[in-house]
Amino acid sequence: MTKSILVINGPNLNLLGTREPEIYGAETLDDIKDKMSAKASSLDLTIDFRQSNTEGEIVNWIQEARDAHDAIVINAGALTHTSVAIMDALLAVDTPCVEVHLSNIFKREEFRHHSFISPAAVGMITGFGSVGYLMAVDAVSDILS
Ligand code: DQA
Repeated sequence: MTKSILVINGPNLNLLGTREPEIYGAETLDDIKDKMSAKASSLDLTIDFRQSNTEGEIVNWIQEARDAHDAIVINAGALTHTSVAIMDALLAVDTPCVEVHLSNIFKREEFRHHSFISPAAVGMITGFGSVGYLMAVDAVSDILS
């Protein structure tokens, strides 16, 4: 049966394309969704691609993923560095999670070096731009096989 990935994008990622393109690139979130969708279907996976600026909504989605999805790919945006609630939600569900960042968070300001997502993730992909989302699909395919 085709397995399903919940892709969660956090705050401000809806602005991709116009938001600091020198850091985050010129592609929009819809561009990334289309590329990720094509990659997923080539590996017999489906994606449910979402974005929210609200921490609580993201927590709800993670809780619901337990029954609805086989894996989670998450770029939590700035909530990466602040959200114990998202970490706890990811730890509470046994759905495997891959953490993605467009920019290399370790090359940036000190406050971006710590991730609350990482302790709950199988691994992190950071610094490869939108390609990181495609790498995450490969990682999920491997984890689920
Ligand atoms: C980001 C990195 C975060 O530090 C930042 O707050 C973002 C995007 C990235 O994809 O590089 O919103 O997660």
